[in-house]
Amino acid sequence: MPNFPFLLILLTVAAVSGDDDADPCAGRRIHIRRLPPRFNTDLLRHCGAASFPLSDPSSSATSAPPCESLANHGLGPRTHPRTRSWYRTDPRLFEAFFHRRVQEMGCLAADPADADAVFVPYYAALDALPYVLDPALLDASGSHGAALAEFLARDSPRILARRQGHDHFLVVAGSAWDHAQPLGPQESRLWGSTSLLRLPALANFTFLTLESRAWAWQEHAIPHPTSFHPSTLPLLRAWLARARRSRRDTLVLFAGGAARPSRPNIRGSILAECANRTDAACVVVDCSNGRCARDPARYMRPMLRARFCLQPPGDTPTRRSTFDAVLAGCVPVFFEDLAARRQYGWHLPPTRYDEFSVHMPKEAVVFGGVKIISTLEAVPGHEVRRMRERALEYAPRVMYRRHGSSEELREAVKDAVDLAVDGVLRRIRWRTSALEEGRPERMYTQEDESVEE
Ligand SMILES: *[C@@H]1O[C@H](CO)[C@@H](O)[C@H](O)[C@H]1NC(C)=O
Ligand SMILES: *[C@@H]1O[C@H](CO)[C@@H](O)[C@H](O)[C@H]1NC(C)=O
Repeated sequence: MPNFPFLLILLTVAAVSGDDDADPCAGRRIHIRRLPPRFNTDLLRHCGAASFPLSDPSSSATSAPPCESLANHGLGPRTHPRTRSWYRTDPRLFEAFFHRRVQEMGCLAADPADADAVFVPYYAALDALPYVLDPALLDASGSHGAALAEFLARDSPRILARRQGHDHFLVVAGSAWDHAQPLGPQESRLWGSTSLLRLPALANFTFLTLESRAWAWQEHAIPHPTSFHPSTLPLLRAWLARARRSRRDTLVLFAGGAARPSRPNIRGSILAECANRTDAACVVVDCSNGRCARDPARYMRPMLRARFCLQPPGDTPTRRSTFDAVLAGCVPVFFEDLAARRQYGWHLPPTRYDEFSVHMPKEAVVFGGVKIISTLEAVPGHEVRRMRERALEYAPRVMYRRHGSSEELREAVKDAVDLAVDGVLRRIRWRTSALEEGRPERMYTQEDESVEE
């Protein structure tokens, strides 16, 4: 059969050139908008908080990030000289890190006319700090973002006008609730929040937030950053293997504020039940007064030894601890859907929550007499193992790998940034196709954008 090898070569050549025709960047080209440094890198100078007299270092909401957190493009310093994957990450510098990751993406378009989406590298939550920390600026908090809007309208206005802003997206390192105050009269302004998400000029942008409002059309939640940022596939696999074989003698763990609340709520019920137990059924890691900030060992070690990690709402429904738990293979226990299921649909498939988490309605616990510990004690061991295995399968989707990661890792898993960008591109495609078809009303009918895996 002398022709056979030749045929094989022909087929191979055909296959290769076929691949060349399929443009891997089709529909995925991102233009990074060039902004003056006052909208991003200059804002990193807020670190240290020296300029804000009110700042209280124990509370993340009322202080500026410490300057050492700027290391590694906002991931912070490593927790330990020998560790390669763990950092003292301050979530308030997430905007700088996300910017770095977009800069290293494969399909960047230098010319905005070629782009499917426009990334605006504005460090929005850092720019909000003066308004939320300086009492003199309280009445001005409605102007957070106004300078950016003015710049985008004036500088190369065609970029913004091309799709009326529907192809623009940016990241806000915080809860949408903190930036959604009505642009109303000054008397009613709330301390600690701004109106960025209400600015009419930015109304068509997509905002990636760490927590979104339930009905909001313009924002989408992406996972809170944790402290785990591996840069190679073996480092990721080594961690997952450790979480898989870890001995778990603790039944439930709660890491959070350990002061009993004055009114009955789910956190109070958890603390009361745990205080009642003398055995190892329940462990409370006290994270009040910023004790756990930038110290992941404090809660990650106990999480590795626990079977269930409780995720009650705090000041707002979502918490970073949910993602720490998924990474640790500690099955998360949710008390309301707003805690995660109705937030992170691009990263964790909403229809699969039963497979990797436990849902216990908070009303049943606080007012209905349902006991958390005995309910979880009754879950059979093989069920717990199955949920843990599933949580660890999803772990790579909610982690933020380090910038400059190995090609092997980049090709093996989509991490939280990759999935966020995929989600944004899907959404922008939906909106721009509605515009192009001359049916702009169609883009307000929010299709279900969640992933189904
Ligand atoms: C937002 O989009 C709508 C519909 O395309 C358009 O009418 C409106 O002018 C846009 N707003 C801004 C500020 O560009
Ligand atoms: C604490 O234990 C007592 C005695 O077993 C029980 O009656 C009570 O309901 C428990 N309290 C909580 C909050 O679980």
